[in-house]
Amino acid sequence: RCGLHTRAIGKNIVALQEVDSTNEEAKRQAQCGAPDGSVFLAERQTGGKGRLGRTWESPAGTGIWFSVLLRPSLVPSEISSITLLAGIAVCRGIRSVTGCAAKLKWPNDVVIGSRKVCGILTEMAAEIERVEYVVLGIGINANTEAFPAKLAEKATSLRIEAGSAFPRAAILRAVLKELESLLLNAKAGSAFQEILDEYKFLCVSLNRRVGFFWNGEQQTGMAVDVSPSGELIVERDGGGRISINAGEVVVQGI
Ligand code: BTN
Repeated sequence: RCGLHTRAIGKNIVALQEVDSTNEEAKRQAQCGAPDGSVFLAERQTGGKGRLGRTWESPAGTGIWFSVLLRPSLVPSEISSITLLAGIAVCRGIRSVTGCAAKLKWPNDVVIGSRKVCGILTEMAAEIERVEYVVLGIGINANTEAFPAKLAEKATSLRIEAGSAFPRAAILRAVLKELESLLLNAKAGSAFQEILDEYKFLCVSLNRRVGFFWNGEQQTGMAVDVSPSGELIVERDGGGRISINAGEVVVQGI
């Protein structure tokens, strides 16, 4: 559909003019049996959600706001690999259409230079032994011409970076194609190390000093690695190596 060269991802595309959040829509549809690979896309979100309980501004016209429903045969501890993989797919897709060198700020902010161009919110429904479904929520600032002053230092768009507007469908298609090829490859098992290596190659947080709130206090250290389960490994200035979980801590480059 729409020139999509994928087999499962996006076979079922639900395009909405307005919705609270495409992640919420994906979860509602998942309960009603929507198939693996369904994509929920909205022109505008009235309750766009970011990570750590934040809101995600989702005006009409310039952004690409969508969620992919996956029903992988994985146990909950393996889901972090899907999150890593989503970030890689967005970087590859952006690069192939725009030429922009998109990178990842741990855990999953897609950045160009030091400014964020895309955010990813992964949610899942799981029991102890079994994952029922995963929702990958992806928000890409595509054709935004300018951001309000207080955001301009932190946020950017593909248009600002490349100097021209892009058809949003082309970006979406490219990201879905990369996502499908990474997911198929990941099933091959041994490919996981390759995925982790690509993630680390794209990750701008590594070998950088970071600040984070941990054990009740503000701390600093050096980000040295990403674990197979997606945690950031930090050498604390105070001594000792710790792993930081994406759901808990805001890490700032310093
Ligand atoms: C973040 O960086 O905090 C994550 C932002 C994720 C935004 C996307 S837009 C599509 C999907 N629906 C949502 O409500 N959130 C995600």
